[in-house]
Amino acid sequence: MIGHIRISFYEHSHRAFGVSCRPSTLRAMATEDQVRQALTHVIDPELHTDIVDLGMVGNIKISEGVVDVSIALTIASCPMRGQIETDVERRVASLPGIEKVVITTGVMTQEQRSTLMERARMSARKNATPTAVSASTRVIAVSSGKGGVGKSSLSVNLAIAIAGQGHTVGLLDADIWGFSAPRMLGATDMRLSANEDRKIVPTEAQGIYLVSTGLLLDDEDTALMWRGLMLTKAVEQFLNDVAWPTDLGYLIIDMPPGTGDVQMALARMLPQAEMVVVTTPQLAAQKVAARVADMARRSHMPIVGVVENMAGFVTEDGSRYEIFGSGGGASLADDIGVELLGSVPIDPHVASGGDSGDPVVVAHPDGPAGTAMTAVADRITRILPPLALDSCIGRLAAL
Ligand SMILES: Nc1ncnc2c1ncn2[C@@H]1O[C@H](COP(=O)(O)OP(=O)(O)OP(=O)(O)O)[C@@H](O)[C@H]1O
Ligand SMILES: [Mg+2]
Repeated sequence: MIGHIRISFYEHSHRAFGVSCRPSTLRAMATEDQVRQALTHVIDPELHTDIVDLGMVGNIKISEGVVDVSIALTIASCPMRGQIETDVERRVASLPGIEKVVITTGVMTQEQRSTLMERARMSARKNATPTAVSASTRVIAVSSGKGGVGKSSLSVNLAIAIAGQGHTVGLLDADIWGFSAPRMLGATDMRLSANEDRKIVPTEAQGIYLVSTGLLLDDEDTALMWRGLMLTKAVEQFLNDVAWPTDLGYLIIDMPPGTGDVQMALARMLPQAEMVVVTTPQLAAQKVAARVADMARRSHMPIVGVVENMAGFVTEDGSRYEIFGSGGGASLADDIGVELLGSVPIDPHVASGGDSGDPVVVAHPDGPAGTAMTAVADRITRILPPLALDSCIGRLAAL
């Protein structure tokens, strides 16, 4: 039974969520089951369990591209309300054929709350595995459709900048044979160890927890031996057999260039994963990145936004040179209906710092790239705030 009712209304353009008029992208309309399935990936920030399992999802109606979802909150003043609504909207909107998402939020009855608490407790027991990535960890896969656009540079710097906000951050270098994170973090001499449960212990470098094949191998040339390895198996092992910190707030994944398999494996294993798409300002790179975005939608991995990298070069006298063109990031973001999280200019300190292990957000925080990357990190954590925040249950207890 729903008490107070408020309706939140979200509208998306056709282009924004893949209901393109182009025949090549026409897809069937999502079903109620698919919507419910997508909502199993919305995690209640406090209870760390999905909202379907918690019984928070009521009626779902679909008509001509409009999805109407009823959500029952634990209490009307739940501080997580906005976040749950946003996550519901993003998950549902990423399904095929959806143009609008209408969310009707209500409040649970006392009986519903008791059932919810029982389910939450059971789920917490069921999911209590200290090695797996927790359901309450925000997972951000930094991807692109083309190599060399700055995924690794951004992953490393974003991870450090987010850790600088006070969060516990992990960095998974999913570029199994083309790893670069250890060098960029000045951690090439470090090695992963195993704990008494024979789980891999991440290396701590510059305030973040790092896992990379570069920390297993004796030298970077040995990486060639990994060419025959099944990439998805290696990524699976890093997700299952690593003792990630239990309070891991964010896991940044540096994706290999243009491999759909790894993306799919990730989406299967980490249903909460979301994607940040990196592109360069010119049109060719933008087209490639658009394919990544399409793949993200097919794997139902929402896209947080686009980061444009190598966006112009400003000389000391203030002259600006658009070396790789301009506007590619904004136009890609517009095409796929997400926001442009920021533009990072060309800054020689990114390249030199990447080689010497001095990430630009630490070594040159006030330079053009340092400032821009810190701003992108701030934007990401504003869109995806940490899941373990304020407590609805605490407020419930006070009722
Ligand atoms: N904003 C920037 N300014 C200057 N140089 C940059 C910038 N971003 C990245 N670079 C440099 O460009 C090169 C490629 O960057 P990076 O390795 O981060 O890309 P990538 O997308 O991870 O590549 P790959 O697809 O090979 O994994 C590196 O030498 C890096 O230092
Ligand atoms: Mg890389």
